[in-house]
This record gives sequence, structure tokens and C-alpha cells, in this order.
Amino acid sequence: MNLAFSSDAERRLQELLGRYPNRQAAVIPALHLAVREFGYLSPEAMDLVARRLEVPQSLVLGTATFYTMLHKRPVGRYHIQVCMNVACYLKGSDNLANQLKDRLGIGFGEVTPDGMFSLEGVQCLAACGMAPVIQVNKDYHEDMTPAKVDALLDQLRSAPGGEK
Ligand code: FES
Repeated sequence: MNLAFSSDAERRLQELLGRYPNRQAAVIPALHLAVREFGYLSPEAMDLVARRLEVPQSLVLGTATFYTMLHKRPVGRYHIQVCMNVACYLKGSDNLANQLKDRLGIGFGEVTPDGMFSLEGVQCLAACGMAPVIQVNKDYHEDMTPAKVDALLDQLRSAPGGEK
């Protein structure tokens, strides 16, 4: 059976389509809508977006795989992205990544068993002047150090919630 949007998501999709000059231009917001609806972009969710927008599946797949904020697999309540590109790497992001893997007991691409955290290594987050940079959901954490990583994890653990 094909995946389908809820009636609320379907209404929002129609609003989206009215705002763009053509359906191709609405691919990215439609993918964001699918992430909010289903939690991540499974192959079925990407197929749904292609069908509803009447655009090629290759366009949807190519767009989804280009943007790291469009999750292609399940993520935790707090999705932690560690920039591993040059400026951050030179300022110790690999050590921070290893610290996070150790503290959370997961590797890149994994989710903690309680569903609270997921971890991912990403390319430049476009804040190189504040390297090393970690992104948690939509928030940037800059000039990170091992002590700041520990404090951040403590803060997140003590305040469950957060918007994906
Ligand atoms: S290299 Fe990390 S933000 Fe650019």
C-alpha cells in the first residue's frame, strides 16, 4: 500500500503548491513537509512526494540526498551533527565526535536506544569562523570544547523535548 499524507499535511501541501511557480520549485518544501509528517524520508515518503508533485523520482531523490537537513533515516529527539570539514577538523572536531560517540554509545548514523539522541558527521555548516561547530536540531553551538560538549549533553538530558 502506498504511503499517504494526513489530511492536515495534504492541506499544507496544497498551500505550498499555490506559492510556487511550478511543482519542481516546491520539491524542497514538500520534502520538509514529509520529514515533519513521517519523521524522515523513507523511500516510500520520497515516492509519495514525487507522485503528489508529479515530478521525476530522480529529482526528489537527488534533492533529498543533497541536503543533510532532510533526514533519510530515523533520528533522535536531539539530532547532533558534528562538522567534520577542514576548519572544524583542524580545531579538534574529530576529538569532539569521538567524545560524543563515547558518551552516547553510538556511532555516526545511529540513534540511542531511548530515541533521545542521534549522531551524524556532516560537511561545512557555514560557520567556519566559529569552529569547531556542532548543530543540535536547528541550533548551532560554536567554539566547542570537550567541556562544552559535556555541558551540552547534560543540558539536553535534563530538558527533554525539542523540535526536530
Ligand atoms: S568547516 Fe566547520 S563550519 Fe565550516
